[in-house]
Amino acid sequence: MKTAQDIKSMKSKQKMVMLTAYDFPTAKLMDGIVDIILVGDSLGMVVLGYENTTKVTMDDMLRATSAVARGAKNTLIVGDMPFGTYESEEDALRNAKLFLEAGAHAVKVEKKPEIAEFLVKNGIEVMGHIGLTPQTITTFKVQGKDKESADKILQEAIALDKAGCFSLVLECIPLTLAKTITEKISIPTIGIGAGVHCDGQVLVTNDILGLYGDFKPKFLKRYAEIGNEMKKAFEEFAKDVREERFPSDGQSFH
Ligand code: KIV
Repeated sequence: MKTAQDIKSMKSKQKMVMLTAYDFPTAKLMDGIVDIILVGDSLGMVVLGYENTTKVTMDDMLRATSAVARGAKNTLIVGDMPFGTYESEEDALRNAKLFLEAGAHAVKVEKKPEIAEFLVKNGIEVMGHIGLTPQTITTFKVQGKDKESADKILQEAIALDKAGCFSLVLECIPLTLAKTITEKISIPTIGIGAGVHCDGQVLVTNDILGLYGDFKPKFLKRYAEIGNEMKKAFEEFAKDVREERFPSDGQSFH
């Protein structure tokens, strides 16, 4: 299994692959295929049906993390610290430790370089996240399009690098800004809607599988239409039951 430090040393050598997972079967299927599994707080939207990620609790995340850890024995697992759980150093450390107990190897925080640094100093591997940070920016909009906001994002990247993060998610920023950040910092950047120059890419698994309704932002590529397949199976089962084709004699006990 690649450790967080292995991931860090992959910068400029090999592209990194990260996907999200929230349950045992999905984690088992992607184990060994991706470099990192992120138990993302996107769980709140794509699994629990909330409008944004801010209602996700530690309980939600820990249950998902332990399921993923049971499924993926060979892949680095990163637990996404939910909104409001890393406001103070004490809260951040207590909650990060709960993620490790649940089976994560590292945690992810949005912005907050001082908290990231405190966690790193206490032996926790931390992934940073800047650009469109869904816990504080709940409307979908590309970030860093003007010089002032681009400079701010670059400074945030430098601060999280200095804080000791092992990698950094760049979400929904122009590809030229992602390129500048990737060249300037020492840790790998993992992009989502941030273009090809990042050191790696992440997408939300339910989005690439067509399992999250009609959500299809410009940066997304769908690799399957599992949602349509599921619907077809549900319809066929319902028809079979209503027309007494299921269960057949062979599917019955005598
Ligand atoms: O929660 C999540 O899935 C994420 C990714 C989009 C990076 O933070």
